[in-house]
Amino acid sequence: MRRLQLFEISDHRWCPESVRAIVTDYLQFGVKKWKMDAAIASLLRRALRQAGQHQVIDLCSGSGGPWLHMIRDVEDEGFPVKVLLTDKYPNTQAFESARAVFGGLFDICPEPVDATHVPESLRGFRTIFSAFHHFHPPVAGAILQDAVNCQQGVAIFEVTQRTPWAVFNFFLTSLLVPFCVPFMRPFRWSRLVWTYLVPVASAVILFDSVVSCLRTYSADELKELATGTGAKGYTWEAGEVKLAHAPVPITYLLGYPG
Ligand SMILES: C[S@@+](CC[C@H](N)C(=O)[O-])C[C@H]1O[C@@H](n2cnc3c(N)ncnc32)[C@H](O)[C@@H]1O
Repeated sequence: MRRLQLFEISDHRWCPESVRAIVTDYLQFGVKKWKMDAAIASLLRRALRQAGQHQVIDLCSGSGGPWLHMIRDVEDEGFPVKVLLTDKYPNTQAFESARAVFGGLFDICPEPVDATHVPESLRGFRTIFSAFHHFHPPVAGAILQDAVNCQQGVAIFEVTQRTPWAVFNFFLTSLLVPFCVPFMRPFRWSRLVWTYLVPVASAVILFDSVVSCLRTYSADELKELATGTGAKGYTWEAGEVKLAHAPVPITYLLGYPG
């Protein structure tokens, strides 16, 4: 399937914060249910150790993404890791609750951080979960180039895929929203409102997840973008992880100096 740039509803400034939060909360819920965090943690643990970086700058964090469920896995065996949560539209409520639960493991940035212009002061291994597809190829390449120019490691993970099978699965998954919302934690009234009273949550999640699939880069395309940086002395690794308990594989790119 040819990659389409398109747009997602939650990408837009006019999208109410609480609707954007349902989209990212549901994504986080699904990643946990499909036990994708364990597979991501093992790849990240290796990359962070190879890069020798303990500080992570998570870009496009949404509700915290898989970090909340995997930070202890990533940092085990005496390799402490600290994660700064950032987003262009920071969900400060979710960031604060991550900090409250995990204490010193998370820092939060309440100011908007655009993944396409990461401030120089934010130094650390950059992670982007389920959001790299938002950027069209020149911008996606520039994000990798900036990590290279700053000599920082970078890891991209996508749980969507540009295949009819993935579109079908994410379509079905979106229909389950009304059944999953009561089990999502921490509890938020706004989720009930947008799911049952003004039932737009399922439609927005359906639209955004199908569009996400249609614009997700393949492992080969990620590798090509990485090669385009012309980085000398960088190790790049791109691939797919197939999971026994999830219908769609995870696509990833890891890059770090050394
Ligand atoms: C699909 S969500 C992924 C959230 C989270 N990483 C996860 O895995 O659950 C995409 C996130 O990217 C953020 N975003 C979109 N464009 C961005 C940009 N240019 N810079 C930083 N964040 C951006 C959105 O606000 C949203 O929170």
